[in-house]
Amino acid sequence: MERPFTLRWEGGLNGHLVLLDQTRLPAETVYLECRTVEDVWQAIKRLSVRGAPAIGVAAAYGVCLGVQSGRSVDEVCDYLATSRPTAVNLFWALERMRKAASRGVLAPVRGGGPPGSLNTLTELLLAEACAIHEEDRQQCAAMARHGADLLSDFPDGGGILTHCNTGALATGGEGTALAVVFELARRGKHPHVWAGETRPLLQGARLTMWELQQRDIDATLICDSVAAQVMREGRIDAVITGADRIAANGDTANKIGTLGVAALAKVFGIPFYVAAPVTTFDLSIKTGADIPIEQRAAAEITEGFGLQTAPQNAHVYNPAFDVTPAELISAIITDRGIVAPVNAHQVAITLSP
Ligand code: MRU
Repeated sequence: MERPFTLRWEGGLNGHLVLLDQTRLPAETVYLECRTVEDVWQAIKRLSVRGAPAIGVAAAYGVCLGVQSGRSVDEVCDYLATSRPTAVNLFWALERMRKAASRGVLAPVRGGGPPGSLNTLTELLLAEACAIHEEDRQQCAAMARHGADLLSDFPDGGGILTHCNTGALATGGEGTALAVVFELARRGKHPHVWAGETRPLLQGARLTMWELQQRDIDATLICDSVAAQVMREGRIDAVITGADRIAANGDTANKIGTLGVAALAKVFGIPFYVAAPVTTFDLSIKTGADIPIEQRAAAEITEGFGLQTAPQNAHVYNPAFDVTPAELISAIITDRGIVAPVNAHQVAITLSP
């Protein structure tokens, strides 16, 4: 049976973006039609589309929609950049779109209008957004191969703990950390995934478990607070998570709770891996201390999914991400190969063109 797709452009130059609404999963498979750049901004903000690489791909298509309505590329990019602050793939994709547009002003596109005309520009931008989408698909495949090679000693039926959702729903391809799991499964290793539920929005419970069931991967859902216990019971052979932004020294921002899991892995002597494409690295930031951390609404904790779980007016702190220091990360699995040990020197070597 064909799996639901995460996002795709439908129609030609005047087409629109169609997204699987991840806020409705796993109960309902509902697609959202984004026909304006505001639709895309809202979809990113409320996590209908989420996961660092998928946000970047959606934003690239969002630029095409904004330009259809006559706004400048810079105006549209500035606007989309305000949707969420942490995943650097968003800003990377918007920068690619700006650069593509500036090339278009200089040179006509084959089959398009005269240089600088709207048709030429839209055509060029749509081609760039499709290229970003396709490159992400290929980067996922490369991470899967490098990650499975790195884990070649992984025991048959071994346990992998993961956090948040890092699969096809989070990317333009098969995923980051989960793509490695899928590849291990294809290589006959029968991995058993332990999925942290990922408070407060439950990406692990709602999305990761949904994806793993679709692919017939053995998986067990745990509350986030169970991670230490399953490690102590000897059930976890490796931890693999994704990333939203990686600083030049390898410090890694990912979904809130990742830092705790990394610290536990250190205590229990379990390797902790991060899987991320090169588009998730931000070499302009030296260390994780400078990564902007998104703060989200208190209601996600006090009345998540419509159920009141805290007294009215309870003070809440709800950062959406935390930063795991490089020294807690055994290796970073990228589409260009493995960063290990994780430090500024090895990051620079792996990312150099
Ligand atoms: O708030 P979200 O759901 O967008 O957070 C997503 C994550 O933290 C993922 O682990 C991360 O984007 C990497 S997966 C491709």
